[in-house]
Amino acid sequence: MIITLCGYMGAGKTTIGKKLAKKLNYDFLDLDEYLEKKYAKKIIDIFAELGEEYFRKIETAELKELVKKDKIVLSLGGGAVLKDENKTILKSTFVVYLQANFDDCYERIKNSDRPIVKSKSKEQLKLHFDKRICHYENVANLIVETTKIGTTVNYICNAIKEI
Ligand code: S3P
Repeated sequence: MIITLCGYMGAGKTTIGKKLAKKLNYDFLDLDEYLEKKYAKKIIDIFAELGEEYFRKIETAELKELVKKDKIVLSLGGGAVLKDENKTILKSTFVVYLQANFDDCYERIKNSDRPIVKSKSKEQLKLHFDKRICHYENVANLIVETTKIGTTVNYICNAIKEI
């Protein structure tokens, strides 16, 4: 099985993903980290030098390959669930939407070098956050709040046992 974690930037996908993978004895993969390694470029530089469209193209291409694996927890970038093609690819995985409120996400991302954060004001990011919610909800097999990491991880583990 592949468990994919989706949710807004700063929702805790990487932190929770690592803990979840450890608990399940699965490998952990972070799609953004994987892209940075494979393309030997930081996401911010891919956006700046090659554009978001190019980023979205390689994001889909690598996602398509990664879902061929088994026993992995795959943390997605916040925008990876937007394209219909990606939504279809994700159907072979168990998608968990990590639900977090905007203020918590914003505190975690405001000083980061994420290209989308750098190009928007707080107000614009709030609108961006609101627009993303329906995409996360639509693609999710499970929706879980991320207020306490340990509780979130246990909740996901218990839900998986019942599949
Ligand atoms: C993006 C989120 C980022 C990264 C890229 C675009 C987005 O990942 O994929 O900067 O569109 O929300 P994180 O959600 O891991 O920050």
